Amino acid sequence: MKNIAVIGAGVMGHGAAQLFAQVGYNVRIQARRESSLEQARELITNSLNIMVEKEMLTQEVMDQTLANITYTTELLEAIQDADFVLESIPENLELKLDTYEIIESVVSKKTIIASNTSTFPLKDLTQKAKHPERFIITHYFNPPQIVPVVEIARFEKTDEQVVQTTYDLMKEIGKSPVVLKKEVTGFIVNRVQVAFLRECFNLIEQGVCTAEDIDIAVKGSMGFKWAFCGPMESQDLAGLQTTQAMVHNIEQELSNTREVPTFLKEMVANEELGIRSNKGFYDYDDNGAKAIHTRDDNFLDLLKLMQQKAGKKEEVSSAK
Ligand SMILES: NC(=O)c1ccc[n+]([C@@H]2O[C@H](COP(=O)([O-])OP(=O)(O)OC[C@H]3O[C@@H](n4cnc5c(N)ncnc54)[C@H](O)[C@@H]3O)[C@@H](O)[C@H]2O)c1
Repeated sequence: MKNIAVIGAGVMGHGAAQLFAQVGYNVRIQARRESSLEQARELITNSLNIMVEKEMLTQEVMDQTLANITYTTELLEAIQDADFVLESIPENLELKLDTYEIIESVVSKKTIIASNTSTFPLKDLTQKAKHPERFIITHYFNPPQIVPVVEIARFEKTDEQVVQTTYDLMKEIGKSPVVLKKEVTGFIVNRVQVAFLRECFNLIEQGVCTAEDIDIAVKGSMGFKWAFCGPMESQDLAGLQTTQAMVHNIEQELSNTREVPTFLKEMVANEELGIRSNKGFYDYDDNGAKAIHTRDDNFLDLLKLMQQKAGKKEEVSSAK
């Protein structure tokens, strides 16, 4: 594999493109507007600069990464000779289907077509596909150039070799891939996240705590632990008899609503959209620029620590 095409240069596309370029692939990013490409170029440069400042990359790798990326508004130019295409355009099924039709009419039969969809099952994404067996989902998390996990979702038609090649590619770009054994809406992480958010929203609605209290409580407990000790490992360490009692005693009280909470609907209706409108659970005055910078700075420090620990583990096992 040599050439990677990333279609869509938004929040997710530019970050994924950066990852492929960092390990030496020729990457072509396509967006419909020059201004989107300009913005992607700036975001990639900024992101690499911070990594160099934090000594996670050398200046040489940064320069090579930037040289590995070309930008185009032409879809056909982006996908010519592509061995792997990552589609990261908006979550609109018709738009995605139209794009796949063009991609499939140009690329070789061996080209893998991956979608970064958050919600559409492969059955829907491949409804017009000539070769559904080469379609796969690689679901990244924002910011994709930093957050380690990529969920890989296949369906019954996906070729085994496509799964393996995609898995190997994700490892090569430094990700921790998780391959789902069955196709489910929301994959693993967003299902868990929505179940978790349902109870957070319930606690706010019941007047038990504020949104800020939830952030403080979670950041200092589950959030603190989970980067190194996942929820399942944590139960082993606590003792499963305690887990059993906790689940038994609390489960009956939890929200089991299937509705979006009224206060959330009202916030969205009132244009309280988070950083996009400078108001959400918190207030902003810069469309979240400071918040994004602080988030990425902290995430990179955590990623660096994780990489250092993984490196030490490898050193120990190779010394044995
Ligand atoms: N934002 C997230 O946190 C997140 C996380 C995981 C997955 N996803 C998924 O990733 C995909 C992209 O999401 P995003 O947040 O980057 O969206 P976005 O709106 O930030 O970016 C989409 C980009 O695609 C461009 N575009 C639109 N139509 C196009 C077309 N026909 N051809 C080429 N480019 C086109 C847009 O101009 C924009 O630059 C979606 O499927 C989304 O569900 C998003």
